[in-house]
Amino acid sequence: MSMTHASGAAWARIADVDPELWAAITAEVDRQRWSIELIASENFAFAPVLEAQGTALTNKYAEGLPGRRYYGGCEFVDIVERLAQERALALFPGAEHVNVQPHSGAQANLAAYFAVLDHGDRILGLSLAHGGHLTHGSPVNFSGKWFEVHAYGVEQGTERIDLDVFARTAAEVRPKLVIAGASAYPRIWDFERMAAIAHDVGALFLVDMAHIAGLVAAGVHPSPFPHADIVTSTTHKTLRGPRGGVVFCKADLAKAVDKAVFPGIQGGPLMHVIAAKAAAFGLALTDDFRADQRRTVENAAVLADAFTARGARLVSGGTDNHLMLVDVTPLGVTGREAETLLDAVGITVNKNAIPFDPLPPNTASGIRVGTPATTTRGFGPDEMREIARIVVDAIEHRDDPTAAAALRAETRAMCARFPLPGLP
Ligand SMILES: Cc1ncc(COP(=O)(O)O)c(C=O)c1O
Repeated sequence: MSMTHASGAAWARIADVDPELWAAITAEVDRQRWSIELIASENFAFAPVLEAQGTALTNKYAEGLPGRRYYGGCEFVDIVERLAQERALALFPGAEHVNVQPHSGAQANLAAYFAVLDHGDRILGLSLAHGGHLTHGSPVNFSGKWFEVHAYGVEQGTERIDLDVFARTAAEVRPKLVIAGASAYPRIWDFERMAAIAHDVGALFLVDMAHIAGLVAAGVHPSPFPHADIVTSTTHKTLRGPRGGVVFCKADLAKAVDKAVFPGIQGGPLMHVIAAKAAAFGLALTDDFRADQRRTVENAAVLADAFTARGARLVSGGTDNHLMLVDVTPLGVTGREAETLLDAVGITVNKNAIPFDPLPPNTASGIRVGTPATTTRGFGPDEMREIARIVVDAIEHRDDPTAAAALRAETRAMCARFPLPGLP
């Protein structure tokens, strides 16, 4: 690779100084432009979010909190972080305190546990096999290695969480912390009742709203506030912010949470990312964002109906939120095979275990499908019906390369109709 250095104040453009790197970056942008993004945890960040992350705020060390830093020269990044904090609290009425510094969703959960748990404490979270997240107690994750993990799940017939069963589990386990929230659960959470159950058994109640934060902000999913003691989230999924995390908590836990983030588990905050969080929270307060979140849920309902009409089985029979789990085995393929077939026609999904899956996780019976990214891109109900048809056709005509080529042409034509959000 040939590299030249820019001198003086002029900034070198990556394309000029590092063509090898630039080629990979532009190839990824092209991939995003010419494929239909159905990964439920992905979205297109707002343009100001991309812009903020490319600023010189990345140069600044600012350990500590606004007004109480361990470094000089923090007067402007203090303004930035305070904006992020104020907007985050405005976005989620009932939230009492926020820390906007966690580098990711996993870091937000680590900070939350570090704030209120000791090594070996008992936690109760949704099983990974039923849609929970690795950080909610998986044996390969710090949460599973450091705590005594108990799991609740969905019921075999309904594939939904039954809160009577959950209450009995909580009473038996008597955990120190109950964790609600998921990476792959398509139904509404009753946070108010779960909080009451957790508090009744003497546990603290944490909601990881990473997937549904945008829906909560827009009022299309019930809020965990003021019921939960701690609420963690990512900022890059339905919220359309930068990749990052955030922790909210009750006022009496504020000190413990702040200390857990820094110096507990992190060093210097990423001030360019915190600026991007401020931008995203500001934009999420708008009517446009609320309308987009409503459309995200409406699109998911249309897509779910269209899949069902074509013979796919949806876990729990459908969806209330932005995602669904499609059991593709009635169509004659595994989740892994479906993921590969769909990639070939320009549709990106991830294979996903379904509850009580007889197949191993790296094969899986299902795919997880979400509507945040396509809705941000401008797709509506007509496109959702087209997508369901293309998905099922791609699976049913899997041995026919001509059919796959025709379907790829269709997805390209759809992408051409909707420019990539956030980019020129
Ligand atoms: C519910 C939930 N919590 C936490 C995370 C972790 O977020 P990150 O990938 O930013 O560490 C995810 C990511 O998929 C998630 O779905």
